[in-house]
Amino acid sequence: MPLPSFQSRQSQKILSFALVAALTGCGSDSDDTPVVSSSAAQTSSDASQAMSSSTQAESSSSAAPASSSEEASSSATISSSEAASTSSSAANSSSEAASSSDASAECATVEGNLVNNGGVESGLTPWSQQGDAMVAAADSEAHCGANSLLVTGRTASWHAAVINLPNLVASTSYDIEVWVKMAPGQSIETINLTVNYTDDSGSANYSGVTGASVGPDDWVKLSGTYNHLPTGTSSGVYAYLESPSETASYYIDDFSIVGEAANNEISYPELDPNANGGLAAGNAKFLGNIIASTIPSSYGTYWNQVTPENSGKWGVTEPAQDFYSWGTLDRAYAYAKVNGMPFKGHTLVWGSQEPSWIGDLTPAEQLAEVEEWIQDYCARYDAPSDGGFVHLLDVVNEPTNAPASYREALGGAGSTGWDWIIWTYEKAREHCPEATLLINDYNIINYAINSDSAANANAYEEIITLLNNRDLLDGIAFQTHAFSINGLNPWDDISAAQIDQALDRFASFGLPLYIAELDIDDEGVNQCERYKELFPAMWEHPSMAGVTLWGYIEGQTWRNTQRSGIVRADGTEKAAMLWLREYFGGNGTAACGADE
Ligand code: XIL
Repeated sequence: MPLPSFQSRQSQKILSFALVAALTGCGSDSDDTPVVSSSAAQTSSDASQAMSSSTQAESSSSAAPASSSEEASSSATISSSEAASTSSSAANSSSEAASSSDASAECATVEGNLVNNGGVESGLTPWSQQGDAMVAAADSEAHCGANSLLVTGRTASWHAAVINLPNLVASTSYDIEVWVKMAPGQSIETINLTVNYTDDSGSANYSGVTGASVGPDDWVKLSGTYNHLPTGTSSGVYAYLESPSETASYYIDDFSIVGEAANNEISYPELDPNANGGLAAGNAKFLGNIIASTIPSSYGTYWNQVTPENSGKWGVTEPAQDFYSWGTLDRAYAYAKVNGMPFKGHTLVWGSQEPSWIGDLTPAEQLAEVEEWIQDYCARYDAPSDGGFVHLLDVVNEPTNAPASYREALGGAGSTGWDWIIWTYEKAREHCPEATLLINDYNIINYAINSDSAANANAYEEIITLLNNRDLLDGIAFQTHAFSINGLNPWDDISAAQIDQALDRFASFGLPLYIAELDIDDEGVNQCERYKELFPAMWEHPSMAGVTLWGYIEGQTWRNTQRSGIVRADGTEKAAMLWLREYFGGNGTAACGADE
């Protein structure tokens, strides 16, 4: 079953309805959950109309319970298309009185509700859709307040309205309630509530929580207990409201989930017994690597700096607007901090791995969201330099290759040609005053020494000049992935002397330099020989402050086919790693070929 696609809101049909019921101050939103931003137009309130709506629901309540006992038995069923992929059982959840149309307490606040805007009173966040389902705030119908959520356009049972849940605590039960009513003209159908999350191994887990028969005349309450039982940590927890009736359309209102709130604190691991400064121990500069979702047990043996591979990219960290998934990034950050390794955040603004929802916003909203992201990131990780902790930060990534799609909202080119970048660094400096602000790009070193293809390097230099003149930049990073230095193409077949020359060019700014994403394939070139040839030029440059390799274990790098790893999956070291070890061992006998 596909994960929610967070389809473009612009493509969602917003239907206009007459205001029937409106009441301010009611609903089920909690005050202590993160404030969500509102993008939908608000309707005015009209308490007297709301009262009549409430009376109507109440008076019809006696007519509905006939179907409720039948519903209890169907409540743990989830739609058939999901059943194939589900990995959880009905034992993972239990439903209580599956349906009720008793709306007498409908406007009472649900104490301890962990989600905001379950009543769709302020925009659509955290609601979204999956499949062909379209979701829109409807002001013609409300169980409580002015709006409900109308789900239309479904063509399969799993097409659904989706609500993004905050992080939940493992092995903990939650009480979920939501009110549902079929759209006018629809027959009585079963509506099911399912919860989905992705566990540490990447497996999607589905739990049927409850279900009920719902008709177009009364609001029906679905309520059930959901037992959150992830293996390891979990991310992206969603609740769906779906129906085996493939084209059914319905209203949803007043979703609440009550239970223990996940501790939002970063949890710090024990010291890594292998972390003794890694290969570069004793040097003033670091030799680091990336951390993906889990930390390899050999990490501390080799490396003494951490860059999160994907978990710090905006699209990964904020998968739905105003909902953060910090867990994996926390783990990398906490590991670095506990073990006294510099941590390099990666990355605040970049034209790749952007949040899917950012394109749906107006420029003003985009601007606000980028600043909010920078602010939230910095509030969490810009730990002061206590105990010598160093927080480096790739503020803008790949400005010359992959500029942010929303750059116009940040000022676009403007009068300097790069106003959007200046704005981003001003914000990073403001919110992350303790961090060492870096810029990072590729095709710079190889192009810097080639007058035929100097455009990227020239643009990079231009941007750096603007930032440096404003005291907004603390270091310059170069990616140096295999495809840009490896000798696979004539223009990439760079030598140590050319690396030196390119680094000299950028060293003239007087800022520290970083090799941020080094990898060299074991395909098409002799990996060890290339390490031996190029690495010393990078490491030994007088302005070099640190070198970070982009992965090291075969099968766990983004260039697996090209075998960019330098340690085999079984932990044995390839020639390039043996050479690197030897190089840092400093006995001057480093040679390649030992593992061939
Ligand atoms: C890569 C990751 O390693 C992959 O897992 C992901 O699929 C794509 O991104 N430049 C960067 C890095 O700045 O963030 C990229 O990382 C590699 C290129």
